[in-house]
Amino acid sequence: MILDDLPRLRLGFLPTPVEDLTTLGAELGISLSVKRDDFTGFGGGGNKVRKLEFLMADAVAQGVKVVITTGGHQSNHARMTAAAARKFGMKPILVLRGNRPASWQGNLLLDHILGAEVDFLDPDAYFEQVNPQMQKRAAEAEARGEKAYIIPLGGASALGAMGYVNAIRELSQQYEAMGRPAPDYICAPVGSGGTLAGMVVGCSVWWPSTRVVGIAVTGSAVPFSERIAVMANDAAALLGLGTRFAAGDIRIETDYIGPGYSIPSEAGNAAILRAGRSEGVLLDPVYTGKGMAGIIGLAERGAIEPGADVLFVHCGGTPALFPFNEMLTAGA
Ligand SMILES: Cc1ncc(COP(=O)(O)O)c(C=O)c1O
Repeated sequence: MILDDLPRLRLGFLPTPVEDLTTLGAELGISLSVKRDDFTGFGGGGNKVRKLEFLMADAVAQGVKVVITTGGHQSNHARMTAAAARKFGMKPILVLRGNRPASWQGNLLLDHILGAEVDFLDPDAYFEQVNPQMQKRAAEAEARGEKAYIIPLGGASALGAMGYVNAIRELSQQYEAMGRPAPDYICAPVGSGGTLAGMVVGCSVWWPSTRVVGIAVTGSAVPFSERIAVMANDAAALLGLGTRFAAGDIRIETDYIGPGYSIPSEAGNAAILRAGRSEGVLLDPVYTGKGMAGIIGLAERGAIEPGADVLFVHCGGTPALFPFNEMLTAGA
């Protein structure tokens, strides 16, 4: 498998466990389990650790000194990238969507502890300014003689997607060792799409009967199904696979975004409380709360059929709980 020939630097504490959520599953009439990728460990953990194992191997091979990336104010990706940069002796620069905060909470606090240089971009000007700003920071570094490496939003690239191709292989081995058949569904929140792209490719190899469902947590100018098909095709090509994906092959649920990216939704907040109180599992308002709200909603309306075996990928994000304390405790 070409996957094993790609340069990779171990960062994650892998394999992460699979946990059965028997109470919540029984309430929903399904068999529900969760892949605990919030326990990938490194830099506070989460899905991006898997992507960064491949991206940082590329950066180290190129002799990079400065790593630049972008995300929202509470970007888990940016925080994990900053930690990975530090691990390999590089300087992290984060270009974040949002104004300079009065108080550095959640992931921003961790960015500060990791010593990341942070540029804040006005949310309305973000999409226009983010690439020029990252290029400017890279050019400044290069002028100082420091090689710079720009990681795209969410680490969403064919190379980054390898982290989740590998995660599906890991899961298929775990299920085989447990004597369990492949699940009927595997579901994950979708932000930049790289995680789902990797899962789609991985499932095509190891779990072909499993349906991959992405729960969008943000809107997208180009529909996610189109963007993810392109990424999945690039990832398949990198692996030398002949498989091709079309937008129609990628299932994305868009009913659980709520008011917008990084704006908590009622259903997401309800899912956070429900998972916490029925299972002791901590979700967050930006990604995994909305993802779980999607599973609850799909099961309740029968779009996931009763009795189905459903695996939710917990992609991390717990640090983003804390800045939303007031919304989550309203009425307490
Ligand atoms: C906790 C969490 N869940 C899900 C995602 C979405 O992953 P992707 O950007 O690969 O779609 C992210 C992305 O940052 C995340 O931090």
